[in-house]
Amino acid sequence: VTPSSPGALGRHLALIGFMGAGKTTIGREVARLTERPFVDLDEEIARRHGPIPQIFAAHGEPAFRRLESEELARALALPAPTVVALGGGAPVAAGNRRLLASHDAFVVWVDVDAREAWERTRGGGRPLAADHDAFHRLYEERRPLYAEAAQARVADVAGVLLAALAIIVERGASTRLEELLPGEDRGTPDVALIADEHVLGLHPPALARRLAETHPVPAGERAKTADVVESLWRALRLGRDGHVVALGGGSTTDVAGFVAATYLRGVEWVAVPTTLVGQVDAAIGGKTGIDLPEGKNLVGAFHLPALVAVDPDLLATLSPEERRQGMAEVVKTGLLAGEPLWELDDLELVRRAAAFKAAVVLGDPHEEGRRAILNLGHTFAHALETASGYAVRHGDAVALGLLAALRLSGQPTDVVEEVLRPEPIRVDRERAWSALGRDKKAAGGRTRVVLLPEPGRPEYGVELPDTEVRAALDALIAD
Ligand SMILES: NC(=O)c1ccc[n+]([C@@H]2O[C@H](COP(=O)([O-])OP(=O)(O)OC[C@H]3O[C@@H](n4cnc5c(N)ncnc54)[C@H](O)[C@@H]3O)[C@@H](O)[C@H]2O)c1
Repeated sequence: VTPSSPGALGRHLALIGFMGAGKTTIGREVARLTERPFVDLDEEIARRHGPIPQIFAAHGEPAFRRLESEELARALALPAPTVVALGGGAPVAAGNRRLLASHDAFVVWVDVDAREAWERTRGGGRPLAADHDAFHRLYEERRPLYAEAAQARVADVAGVLLAALAIIVERGASTRLEELLPGEDRGTPDVALIADEHVLGLHPPALARRLAETHPVPAGERAKTADVVESLWRALRLGRDGHVVALGGGSTTDVAGFVAATYLRGVEWVAVPTTLVGQVDAAIGGKTGIDLPEGKNLVGAFHLPALVAVDPDLLATLSPEERRQGMAEVVKTGLLAGEPLWELDDLELVRRAAAFKAAVVLGDPHEEGRRAILNLGHTFAHALETASGYAVRHGDAVALGLLAALRLSGQPTDVVEEVLRPEPIRVDRERAWSALGRDKKAAGGRTRVVLLPEPGRPEYGVELPDTEVRAALDALIAD
């Protein structure tokens, strides 16, 4: 893991694990969500050389293993970062493990319970899933090999996506920070903690011997100023191989990430988000920055955290008002993913919403294309926030913006109404319209927005006539 490319960013993503773990199904879905090519080694072998049981029967296992190594080398030689699902036995060969390492593939172990693997594979004609006892022996034999070859062990699609962007979602993660931190514990403290002063009192992080310096910053948005950045630059004592750890909501991770991006021309950083907005959105994807008097988020940098440690337990102290801001992003994400994420418990809700954002970021890290879908409803939200002089909160504005985006898409708005209960707000209509104009990237009386023609199928850069967009905006404003 290097500061510039945590996880599988820009690298092949290789899935290993026992037969029946679901590597093919999971790999195909991960590839779809991250817009990467997908190669399933067993499928490739069957396509080129015929059914695998026949290869085993006619030429024996060693011949099959040779073909497997050839296909692995072919897949890893592909120029674009690819999702590669390996057969259960592929990582057993030291040569294959060397191939994975020499191509700098990010290797994820898709783990499965032995009984479940047997239930899924028995009777399916797989040569190595014919005998119950032999199957279980093989299962135990291979586990240490998988553990050695993989950088992460997961169980499902969300698990792969999170690992691929160096995100851990785990209850109690903030109490295990010392062991989760990247880099070695060299016995000398190498962590500078930058923390929301309010959160620091509520949830002092467990950094123990790694902690060298602590820098409280003002709670919330007041931290995102050039003054705070300058005082942090001047106060930091960290060397180039040290780490910044950011503890707080999106405001804190934005400013601390920006300081990490710029201090000594960039040091590694770890985000420990403590709000729902932070856990499902702000701490994920490497956008960092501060506000200027002229506007929000006008100065910043892309700088992906080497680790995002998400502890849903920290949300227990969040006010209902702050939670609502985060739920707006959860509803947005659920609509984009086509799944009712808002119905899940906190751990699963955060895990799945964070994984969806991770997938989009992996597919488009620098926001050159599809990452724009994350702006569903945001064109309207920004206009309302600006027109209100930021009196309306971002999440509340996003809830209204989602109404507009769904109406323009011809989709029902009941989920947004029921979960977020948005109320039209009182702002100057002309001011809101001109603020939206500043947001739009179009000429000739047309505005570009993100639409959702059906749940799970967003379209970005859709041009609509100004009259339609204006009507949708007006419907969000109270008289
Ligand atoms: N970089 C990105 O991709 C991105 C994405 C979305 C939002 N953002 C930014 O995030 C910021 C908003 O962040 P936010 O909504 O997370 O809020 P925030 O960081 O502004 O914090 C809001 C309030 O919640 C308090 N708080 C934080 N964690 C708490 C906890 N666990 N218990 C009790 N109180 C707690 C804070 O002290 C503060 O008073 C905005 O500046 C926005 O621009 C960035």
